[in-house]
Amino acid sequence: MSCASNIVVGGGTGFIGRMLCNKLQTKGYGVTVVSRMPGANRLSWDELKQNGLPDGTKAVVNLAGQNVMDMSRRWTAGFKQNVYFSRVNTTKTLACLIDAAPAKPEAFVTISGVGIYKPDCDKEYTEESETKPYDFFSDLCKDWEAAAQFERTDTREQCRIVTIRSGVVLGKDGGMIKQMYLPFYLGLGGPIGDGKQYMPWIHLCDITNLIIHAIECSTVKGVLNGVAPQPCTNMDFTKAFGKALYRPTLIPVPKMAMNCLLNKERAIMITEGQKVLPKKTLSTGFEFQYPDIESACKQVVSTHQ
Ligand SMILES: NC(=O)c1ccc[n+]([C@@H]2O[C@H](COP(=O)([O-])OP(=O)(O)OC[C@H]3O[C@@H](n4cnc5c(N)ncnc54)[C@H](OP(=O)(O)O)[C@@H]3O)[C@@H](O)[C@H]2O)c1
Repeated sequence: MSCASNIVVGGGTGFIGRMLCNKLQTKGYGVTVVSRMPGANRLSWDELKQNGLPDGTKAVVNLAGQNVMDMSRRWTAGFKQNVYFSRVNTTKTLACLIDAAPAKPEAFVTISGVGIYKPDCDKEYTEESETKPYDFFSDLCKDWEAAAQFERTDTREQCRIVTIRSGVVLGKDGGMIKQMYLPFYLGLGGPIGDGKQYMPWIHLCDITNLIIHAIECSTVKGVLNGVAPQPCTNMDFTKAFGKALYRPTLIPVPKMAMNCLLNKERAIMITEGQKVLPKKTLSTGFEFQYPDIESACKQVVSTHQ
Protein backbone atom coordinates (compact mmCIF):
# COMPACT_ATOMS: atom_id res chain seq x y z
CA MET A 1 0.00 0.00 0.00
CA SER A 2 1.55 3.34 -1.02
CA CYS A 3 1.70 6.23 1.42
CA ALA A 4 1.85 8.84 -1.37
CA SER A 5 -0.59 11.65 -0.70
CA ASN A 6 0.10 14.32 -3.29
CA ILE A 7 -2.28 14.93 -6.18
CA VAL A 8 -1.05 16.69 -9.31
CA VAL A 9 -3.84 18.62 -11.05
CA GLY A 10 -3.28 20.01 -14.56
CA GLY A 11 -5.64 22.95 -15.10
CA GLY A 12 -6.40 23.06 -11.36
CA THR A 13 -6.97 26.83 -11.57
CA GLY A 14 -10.19 26.47 -13.57
CA PHE A 15 -13.89 26.17 -12.74
CA ILE A 16 -13.80 22.43 -11.91
CA GLY A 17 -10.18 22.46 -10.74
CA ARG A 18 -10.67 25.08 -8.02
CA MET A 19 -13.43 23.11 -6.31
CA LEU A 20 -11.55 19.83 -6.78
CA CYS A 21 -8.35 21.21 -5.22
CA ASN A 22 -10.29 22.65 -2.24
CA LYS A 23 -11.97 19.31 -1.61
CA LEU A 24 -8.70 17.40 -1.93
CA GLN A 25 -7.01 19.73 0.54
CA THR A 26 -9.92 19.41 2.97
CA LYS A 27 -9.46 15.64 2.77
CA GLY A 28 -5.82 16.05 3.76
CA TYR A 29 -4.11 15.58 0.39
CA GLY A 30 -1.25 17.76 -0.80
CA VAL A 31 -2.10 19.40 -4.13
CA THR A 32 0.26 20.56 -6.87
CA VAL A 33 -1.45 22.54 -9.60
CA VAL A 34 0.10 22.62 -13.06
CA SER A 35 -0.62 25.99 -14.64
CA ARG A 36 0.66 28.42 -17.25
CA MET A 37 0.65 31.09 -14.53
CA PRO A 38 3.09 31.09 -11.59
CA GLY A 39 1.71 30.87 -8.03
CA ALA A 40 1.94 29.13 -4.65
CA ASN A 41 1.91 25.31 -4.84
CA ARG A 42 2.00 25.56 -8.61
CA LEU A 43 4.35 24.20 -11.25
CA SER A 44 4.55 25.35 -14.84
CA TRP A 45 4.25 22.74 -17.57
CA ASP A 46 7.96 23.34 -18.41
CA GLU A 47 9.04 22.85 -14.78
CA LEU A 48 7.09 19.63 -14.64
CA LYS A 49 8.65 18.37 -17.88
CA GLN A 50 12.14 19.22 -16.59
CA ASN A 51 11.80 17.81 -13.07
CA GLY A 52 9.27 15.00 -13.53
CA LEU A 53 6.35 14.26 -11.21
CA PRO A 54 6.82 15.45 -7.61
CA ASP A 55 7.83 12.73 -5.11
CA GLY A 56 4.90 11.08 -3.36
CA THR A 57 2.42 11.61 -6.20
CA LYS A 58 -0.62 9.42 -5.50
CA ALA A 59 -2.65 10.50 -8.52
CA VAL A 60 -2.54 12.78 -11.53
CA VAL A 61 -5.63 14.58 -12.84
CA ASN A 62 -5.87 16.61 -16.04
CA LEU A 63 -8.45 19.38 -16.39
CA ALA A 64 -6.44 21.70 -18.65
CA GLY A 65 -8.08 23.00 -21.79
CA GLN A 66 -8.79 26.24 -23.58
CA ASN A 67 -12.39 27.30 -22.83
CA VAL A 68 -14.37 26.24 -25.92
CA MET A 69 -17.32 28.50 -25.14
CA ASP A 70 -15.26 31.68 -24.67
CA MET A 71 -17.62 34.07 -26.48
CA SER A 72 -14.86 36.63 -26.90
CA ARG A 73 -12.99 34.22 -29.20
CA ARG A 74 -14.08 33.64 -32.77
CA TRP A 75 -14.22 30.04 -33.98
CA THR A 76 -11.17 30.32 -36.25
CA ALA A 77 -8.73 27.62 -37.34
CA GLY A 78 -6.19 29.03 -34.86
CA PHE A 79 -8.64 28.95 -31.95
CA LYS A 80 -9.70 25.40 -32.81
CA GLN A 81 -6.04 24.40 -32.77
CA ASN A 82 -5.72 25.90 -29.26
CA VAL A 83 -8.81 24.04 -28.10
CA TYR A 84 -7.38 20.79 -29.46
CA PHE A 85 -3.74 21.01 -28.40
CA SER A 86 -4.43 22.47 -24.94
CA ARG A 87 -6.22 19.19 -24.14
CA VAL A 88 -4.35 16.57 -26.16
CA ASN A 89 -0.81 17.85 -25.51
CA THR A 90 -1.23 18.43 -21.77
CA THR A 91 -2.75 14.95 -21.39
CA LYS A 92 0.09 13.42 -23.43
CA THR A 93 2.67 15.30 -21.35
CA LEU A 94 1.23 13.92 -18.11
CA ALA A 95 1.00 10.37 -19.51
CA CYS A 96 4.67 10.54 -20.58
CA LEU A 97 5.69 11.83 -17.13
CA ILE A 98 3.86 8.94 -15.46
CA ASP A 99 5.62 6.54 -17.87
CA ALA A 100 8.96 8.06 -16.87
CA ALA A 101 8.29 8.16 -13.10
CA PRO A 102 10.27 5.62 -11.07
CA ALA A 103 7.38 5.29 -8.60
CA LYS A 104 4.05 5.23 -10.42
CA PRO A 105 0.99 7.06 -9.14
CA GLU A 106 -2.03 4.87 -8.48
CA ALA A 107 -4.35 6.67 -10.90
CA PHE A 108 -4.42 9.01 -13.89
CA VAL A 109 -7.84 10.68 -14.12
CA THR A 110 -8.66 12.64 -17.24
CA ILE A 111 -11.71 14.44 -18.52
CA SER A 112 -13.26 14.04 -21.94
CA GLY A 113 -16.67 15.07 -23.27
CA VAL A 114 -20.01 13.49 -24.09
CA GLY A 115 -19.47 14.99 -27.55
CA ILE A 116 -17.80 11.65 -28.34
CA TYR A 117 -21.37 10.27 -28.73
CA LYS A 118 -23.20 11.35 -31.88
CA PRO A 119 -26.26 13.56 -31.18
CA ASP A 120 -29.42 11.52 -31.46
CA CYS A 121 -32.99 11.99 -30.25
CA ASP A 122 -33.70 8.31 -29.51
CA LYS A 123 -30.48 6.46 -28.83
CA GLU A 124 -29.32 5.90 -25.23
CA TYR A 125 -25.58 5.92 -24.74
CA THR A 126 -23.72 4.19 -21.91
CA GLU A 127 -20.00 3.72 -21.35
CA GLU A 128 -20.24 0.50 -23.41
CA SER A 129 -21.67 2.22 -26.51
CA GLU A 130 -19.56 2.21 -29.62
CA THR A 131 -18.07 5.58 -30.54
CA LYS A 132 -17.17 6.61 -34.05
CA PRO A 133 -15.81 10.14 -34.66
CA TYR A 134 -18.15 12.22 -36.82
CA ASP A 135 -17.11 15.85 -36.26
CA PHE A 136 -14.48 18.16 -34.70
CA PHE A 137 -15.49 17.49 -31.06
CA SER A 138 -15.79 13.72 -31.39
CA ASP A 139 -12.38 13.65 -33.12
CA LEU A 140 -11.00 15.75 -30.30
CA CYS A 141 -12.48 13.48 -27.61
CA LYS A 142 -11.06 10.39 -29.31
CA ASP A 143 -7.54 11.87 -29.52
CA TRP A 144 -7.83 13.35 -25.99
CA GLU A 145 -8.68 9.91 -24.56
CA ALA A 146 -5.96 8.22 -26.64
CA ALA A 147 -3.38 10.74 -25.36
CA ALA A 148 -3.88 9.41 -21.82
CA GLN A 149 -2.70 5.90 -22.72
CA PHE A 150 0.74 4.80 -21.53
CA GLU A 151 3.52 3.49 -23.76
CA ARG A 152 5.04 1.21 -21.14
CA THR A 153 3.49 -2.07 -20.07
CA ASP A 154 4.67 -1.76 -16.46
CA THR A 155 2.95 1.65 -16.20
CA ARG A 156 -0.26 0.11 -17.54
CA GLU A 157 -0.07 -2.55 -14.85
CA GLN A 158 0.57 -0.13 -12.00
CA CYS A 159 -1.46 3.00 -12.78
CA ARG A 160 -5.22 2.96 -13.47
CA ILE A 161 -6.48 5.28 -16.20
CA VAL A 162 -9.96 6.70 -15.60
CA THR A 163 -11.54 8.80 -18.33
CA ILE A 164 -14.57 10.81 -17.29
CA ARG A 165 -16.80 11.82 -20.20
CA SER A 166 -18.39 14.89 -18.69
CA GLY A 167 -21.66 16.54 -19.59
CA VAL A 168 -22.19 20.29 -19.12
CA VAL A 169 -21.05 21.12 -15.60
CA LEU A 170 -23.57 23.20 -13.63
CA GLY A 171 -22.23 25.32 -10.78
CA LYS A 172 -21.91 28.95 -9.83
CA ASP A 173 -18.99 31.11 -11.01
CA GLY A 174 -18.20 29.24 -14.17
CA GLY A 175 -19.19 27.18 -17.18
CA MET A 176 -22.60 27.48 -18.80
CA ILE A 177 -24.40 28.97 -15.79
CA LYS A 178 -22.03 31.94 -15.70
CA GLN A 179 -23.02 32.80 -19.27
CA MET A 180 -26.72 32.14 -18.86
CA TYR A 181 -27.31 33.64 -15.44
CA LEU A 182 -27.85 37.25 -16.50
CA PRO A 183 -30.32 36.70 -19.36
CA PHE A 184 -32.31 34.25 -17.22
CA TYR A 185 -32.17 36.61 -14.23
CA LEU A 186 -33.54 39.38 -16.44
CA GLY A 187 -36.39 37.11 -17.53
CA LEU A 188 -34.95 36.82 -21.04
CA GLY A 189 -34.05 33.13 -20.84
CA GLY A 190 -35.66 30.50 -23.02
CA PRO A 191 -35.13 27.17 -24.72
CA ILE A 192 -32.68 26.85 -27.59
CA GLY A 193 -34.65 25.96 -30.71
CA ASP A 194 -37.55 23.67 -29.75
CA GLY A 195 -35.63 22.61 -26.61
CA LYS A 196 -36.13 18.92 -27.41
CA GLN A 197 -32.42 18.18 -27.71
CA TYR A 198 -30.92 16.28 -24.77
CA MET A 199 -28.55 18.16 -22.51
CA PRO A 200 -26.24 15.77 -20.65
CA TRP A 201 -25.27 17.61 -17.46
CA ILE A 202 -23.68 17.12 -14.04
CA HIS A 203 -23.48 19.31 -10.95
CA LEU A 204 -20.04 20.73 -10.09
CA CYS A 205 -20.22 19.05 -6.71
CA ASP A 206 -20.78 15.65 -8.33
CA ILE A 207 -18.08 15.92 -11.01
CA THR A 208 -15.49 16.84 -8.36
CA ASN A 209 -16.70 14.00 -6.10
CA LEU A 210 -16.53 11.64 -9.08
CA ILE A 211 -12.91 12.60 -9.77
CA ILE A 212 -12.06 11.90 -6.10
CA HIS A 213 -13.97 8.59 -6.30
CA ALA A 214 -11.85 7.69 -9.35
CA ILE A 215 -8.68 8.53 -7.43
CA GLU A 216 -9.59 6.65 -4.27
CA CYS A 217 -11.50 3.60 -5.47
CA SER A 218 -8.85 1.10 -6.50
CA THR A 219 -11.21 -0.97 -8.64
CA VAL A 220 -12.38 1.90 -10.88
CA LYS A 221 -10.78 2.11 -14.30
CA GLY A 222 -11.65 2.92 -17.90
CA VAL A 223 -14.46 5.17 -19.10
CA LEU A 224 -17.05 6.66 -16.74
CA ASN A 225 -19.89 8.84 -17.99
CA GLY A 226 -19.84 12.01 -15.87
CA VAL A 227 -23.52 12.81 -16.26
CA ALA A 228 -26.45 12.93 -13.84
CA PRO A 229 -28.57 9.75 -13.78
CA GLN A 230 -31.76 11.65 -14.73
CA PRO A 231 -31.23 12.85 -18.30
CA CYS A 232 -32.87 16.10 -19.26
CA THR A 233 -33.59 18.06 -22.40
CA ASN A 234 -32.69 21.68 -22.99
CA MET A 235 -36.36 22.50 -22.29
CA ASP A 236 -36.27 20.64 -18.93
CA PHE A 237 -33.17 22.61 -17.94
CA THR A 238 -34.67 25.91 -19.10
CA LYS A 239 -37.83 25.36 -17.06
CA ALA A 240 -35.93 24.21 -13.95
CA PHE A 241 -33.49 27.13 -14.07
CA GLY A 242 -36.26 29.66 -14.67
CA LYS A 243 -38.31 28.17 -11.82
CA ALA A 244 -35.33 28.26 -9.43
CA LEU A 245 -34.89 31.96 -10.28
CA TYR A 246 -38.67 32.69 -10.22
CA ARG A 247 -38.41 34.00 -13.78
CA PRO A 248 -40.41 33.27 -16.95
CA THR A 249 -38.65 31.41 -19.75
CA LEU A 250 -40.88 32.24 -22.66
CA ILE A 251 -38.47 33.59 -25.25
CA PRO A 252 -36.94 30.81 -27.36
CA VAL A 253 -33.52 31.38 -28.87
CA PRO A 254 -33.52 30.28 -32.52
CA LYS A 255 -30.85 27.71 -33.39
CA MET A 256 -29.88 29.96 -36.28
CA ALA A 257 -28.98 32.75 -33.84
CA MET A 258 -26.69 30.40 -31.88
CA ASN A 259 -25.11 29.20 -35.13
CA CYS A 260 -24.40 32.82 -36.15
CA LEU A 261 -23.12 33.81 -32.72
CA LEU A 262 -20.90 30.81 -32.05
CA ASN A 263 -20.40 29.19 -35.46
CA LYS A 264 -22.43 26.10 -36.33
CA GLU A 265 -19.60 23.68 -35.54
CA ARG A 266 -19.21 25.00 -32.00
CA ALA A 267 -22.93 25.65 -31.42
CA ILE A 268 -23.66 21.93 -31.89
CA MET A 269 -22.81 21.50 -28.19
CA ILE A 270 -26.02 23.29 -27.28
CA THR A 271 -28.19 23.09 -30.37
CA GLU A 272 -27.99 19.30 -30.48
CA GLY A 273 -27.58 16.66 -27.80
CA GLN A 274 -27.43 13.03 -26.86
CA LYS A 275 -29.04 10.92 -24.13
CA VAL A 276 -26.16 9.70 -22.01
CA LEU A 277 -26.53 7.45 -18.97
CA PRO A 278 -23.94 6.91 -16.19
CA LYS A 279 -24.46 3.11 -16.13
CA LYS A 280 -20.90 2.13 -15.22
CA THR A 281 -20.43 5.16 -12.96
CA LEU A 282 -23.38 4.00 -10.84
CA SER A 283 -22.16 0.40 -10.88
CA THR A 284 -18.91 1.52 -9.21
CA GLY A 285 -20.96 2.63 -6.19
CA PHE A 286 -20.82 6.37 -6.92
CA GLU A 287 -23.71 8.32 -5.39
CA PHE A 288 -24.88 11.58 -6.95
CA GLN A 289 -25.77 14.44 -4.62
CA TYR A 290 -27.72 16.16 -7.39
CA PRO A 291 -29.35 13.45 -9.53
CA ASP A 292 -32.15 15.66 -10.92
CA ILE A 293 -32.08 19.00 -12.71
CA GLU A 294 -34.51 20.73 -10.29
CA SER A 295 -32.33 20.15 -7.19
CA ALA A 296 -29.19 21.08 -9.13
CA CYS A 297 -30.68 24.38 -10.38
CA LYS A 298 -32.01 25.25 -6.93
CA GLN A 299 -28.56 24.72 -5.42
CA VAL A 300 -26.81 26.78 -8.11
CA VAL A 301 -29.24 29.66 -7.68
CA SER A 302 -29.14 29.57 -3.87
CA THR A 303 -25.35 29.96 -3.82
CA HIS A 304 -25.48 32.73 -6.43
CA GLN A 305 -27.52 35.17 -4.38
N1 LIG B 1 -17.14 23.03 -17.61
C1 LIG B 1 -17.82 22.15 -18.34
O1 LIG B 1 -19.05 22.26 -18.50
C2 LIG B 1 -17.10 20.99 -18.98
C3 LIG B 1 -17.85 19.97 -19.61
C4 LIG B 1 -17.18 18.90 -20.20
C5 LIG B 1 -15.80 18.84 -20.18
N2 LIG B 1 -15.10 19.85 -19.57
C6 LIG B 1 -13.64 19.80 -19.59
O2 LIG B 1 -13.13 19.81 -18.26
C7 LIG B 1 -11.91 20.54 -18.24
C8 LIG B 1 -12.00 21.59 -17.14
O3 LIG B 1 -13.13 22.40 -17.38
P1 LIG B 1 -13.31 23.82 -16.67
O4 LIG B 1 -14.70 24.23 -16.91
O5 LIG B 1 -12.76 23.76 -15.30
O6 LIG B 1 -12.36 24.70 -17.59
P2 LIG B 1 -11.73 26.17 -17.31
O7 LIG B 1 -12.39 26.84 -16.16
O8 LIG B 1 -11.73 26.86 -18.61
O9 LIG B 1 -10.25 25.81 -16.83
C9 LIG B 1 -9.39 25.04 -17.58
C10 LIG B 1 -7.95 25.34 -17.20
O10 LIG B 1 -7.16 24.97 -18.33
C11 LIG B 1 -6.05 25.80 -18.43
N3 LIG B 1 -5.91 26.27 -19.82
C12 LIG B 1 -6.73 27.13 -20.48
N4 LIG B 1 -6.28 27.33 -21.72
C13 LIG B 1 -5.14 26.59 -21.82
C14 LIG B 1 -4.19 26.40 -22.86
N5 LIG B 1 -4.34 27.01 -24.05
N6 LIG B 1 -3.15 25.54 -22.62
C15 LIG B 1 -3.00 24.92 -21.43
N7 LIG B 1 -3.86 25.09 -20.41
C16 LIG B 1 -4.92 25.90 -20.61
C17 LIG B 1 -6.26 27.00 -17.51
O11 LIG B 1 -5.28 26.93 -16.48
P3 LIG B 1 -4.06 27.98 -16.39
O12 LIG B 1 -4.54 29.31 -16.90
O13 LIG B 1 -3.77 27.98 -14.92
O14 LIG B 1 -2.96 27.39 -17.19
C18 LIG B 1 -7.65 26.81 -16.96
O15 LIG B 1 -7.74 27.10 -15.59
C19 LIG B 1 -11.71 21.14 -19.62
O16 LIG B 1 -10.79 20.36 -20.33
C20 LIG B 1 -13.08 21.04 -20.26
O17 LIG B 1 -13.03 20.85 -21.66
C21 LIG B 1 -15.72 20.91 -18.96
